[in-house]
Amino acid sequence: MGSTQPEFKNPATTTLLELVKARRTYYGLKAESPISDEAIESIVQDAVLHVPSSFNTQTSRVVLLLKEEHQKLWDIAINIMESLVAAGKVPKEMFETHTKPKLNAFRAAYGTVLFFVDYDSLAAIKEKFAIYADKFDPFALESNAMSQYLVWTALCSEGFGANLQHYSPLIDEQVQKTWNIPASWKLDAQLVFGTPASEPSEKTFQPIEDRYKVFGK
Ligand SMILES: Cc1cc2nc3c(=O)[nH]c(=O)nc-3n(C[C@H](O)[C@H](O)[C@H](O)COP(=O)(O)O)c2cc1C
Repeated sequence: MGSTQPEFKNPATTTLLELVKARRTYYGLKAESPISDEAIESIVQDAVLHVPSSFNTQTSRVVLLLKEEHQKLWDIAINIMESLVAAGKVPKEMFETHTKPKLNAFRAAYGTVLFFVDYDSLAAIKEKFAIYADKFDPFALESNAMSQYLVWTALCSEGFGANLQHYSPLIDEQVQKTWNIPASWKLDAQLVFGTPASEPSEKTFQPIEDRYKVFGK
């Protein structure tokens, strides 16, 4: 997809773009890891440290859950959904045929990275730069998304498959309690990862011409 590859000065640029293309959504995952837990930690920590944030506010917070701790997360989601079914808020049929198998597939993976934003930490800078006050929250979320993307891409580069989930606010309270998460950390996304058990589905692309313009070439 896209234009033919030009010559880059740095071969790492080609590699980087290959990794960008190789990152996909994998739903079929196994509770196995191609790399050490320390290597996973290193990816996550590098994302926390080096992904940029507006005014270097460093608003992203990340929790890495591996193995049994990861399973605990998806047990929480399953239990909450079951209670919604019991309360008549979610149709039983839909839960049994659709939601439960999906949640069990997440549970069958190796780990989950929880991405949070600490919006409270922005109070001082919002006061200092009042003119931008309403921009800081969206900037913080954008920075968080950059971390999600980097970790997703790096994990795929190491032979993992991963998918990005959003079970907030459903699971927030239990997550906070279970892992003693500070109240100011607001959960945004959950990146589920494991060794791929199946291929990603086919991906279609809108024509690049409809989505991109260049001037001054
Ligand atoms: C901001 C964002 C939110 C997403 N949320 C979800 C989600 O809640 N559940 C899910 O299964 N996939 C989610 N996805 C995955 C997208 O559906 C997927 O990235 C897209 O279809 C392109 O496929 P690819 O990841 O294989 O390139 C999300 C992706 C992005 C970028």
